[in-house]
Amino acid sequence: MIHIAVVGCGYWGINYVRVFSELPDSKVVLACDTSEERLRAVRERFPLIPTTSDWEEAVNNKWVDAVVIATPATTHFAIAQQCLLLGKHVLVEKPLTTTVEDGEALVKTAQQQGRVLMVGHTFLYNPGIRKVKELMAREDFGKVYYLHATRTNMGPVRRDVNALWDLASHDVAIFNYLLDDCPQWVSAVGARVLNNGREDVGFATLHYADGVIANVHVSWVDPNKVREVVVVGSQRRVVFDDLNNVERVRIYEKGIAQSELEAGSFGEYRLLVRDGDIISPRVDTSEPLKNLGAHFLDCVAHGKPPLSDGGNGLDVVKVMTSIDQSLMQNGAPVKVVI
Ligand SMILES: NC(=O)c1ccc[n+]([C@@H]2O[C@H](COP(=O)([O-])OP(=O)(O)OC[C@H]3O[C@@H](n4cnc5c(N)ncnc54)[C@H](O)[C@@H]3O)[C@@H](O)[C@H]2O)c1
Repeated sequence: MIHIAVVGCGYWGINYVRVFSELPDSKVVLACDTSEERLRAVRERFPLIPTTSDWEEAVNNKWVDAVVIATPATTHFAIAQQCLLLGKHVLVEKPLTTTVEDGEALVKTAQQQGRVLMVGHTFLYNPGIRKVKELMAREDFGKVYYLHATRTNMGPVRRDVNALWDLASHDVAIFNYLLDDCPQWVSAVGARVLNNGREDVGFATLHYADGVIANVHVSWVDPNKVREVVVVGSQRRVVFDDLNNVERVRIYEKGIAQSELEAGSFGEYRLLVRDGDIISPRVDTSEPLKNLGAHFLDCVAHGKPPLSDGGNGLDVVKVMTSIDQSLMQNGAPVKVVI
């Protein structure tokens, strides 16, 4: 049985309290939040779980084996570093940190302490995204042309990071996972339409090897809630729509094919729309956060490196940092140093 403390029980963290209470190999022994209102919400739903407003008390507790950190992004480093130094395993929400230096320090501390450091890149544990990856690996997918993602909604507006760090960090993790790679350079533009000191809208383009482009549009001020990733290949197009419970993944067998115009017109081709079916494959309905939690417990129990380990989370932080630099230069290309 792995004893868990959850630090940060806001909108997202309370889901961890539920998940680690439900999984058979873990027990939540402490829930922590600086907000009394949030602790009251935890006690109402989980009356048997002790609560505290002091994160240092939670991480110093000798019965705690692992700490889940779901506090605002800028607080991740200080809490995670302290946990690792005290010999706790850490599952920290995305983004791992808000600077490359802090991310590198966490990865190093986890290695030195021999503890698991995992980042909550939930979509890597989403059966829909896993299905997309499976489809891309098939021969009939063809060559990957490009990817694009849309992650828009009205808020919630963060006060410590911009909309790209908040939302596009999901898509960067997804793109890296689907392509088994990191972008070489990025270009990004954004706008501060709410005048609250940070970008609430952003468009980022990531350039991967072999000319593969991945674009992401994020917004906190959009009328439509969209959570979509599209992968366009030479033979198939695949759409992942996280809000569509019936058809989470759709495969378009339609395409554009080259055919020779006519015999004798050497080297001349015309492009034809190739008709085909639209298929919605069966996708496992397991809860991504529960899959992520179970993977974390397995890694802690058996000393395995997580799929979204510290290094993987650090790659995302490096990309996000380059995106920030490009934003400051009105979209100028910025190299990603991995
Ligand atoms: N993986 C996902 O799909 C996903 C979804 C939403 C949020 N998140 C991430 O989860 C984290 C939290 O987001 P949220 O939406 O729950 O925000 P939130 O503001 O609703 O919750 C954060 C909570 O942390 C508490 N807190 C702040 N500092 C603290 C400290 N030092 N000690 C203890 N508690 C503290 C706050 O009181 C608040 O209740 C962020 O990193 C965010 O990026 C991830």
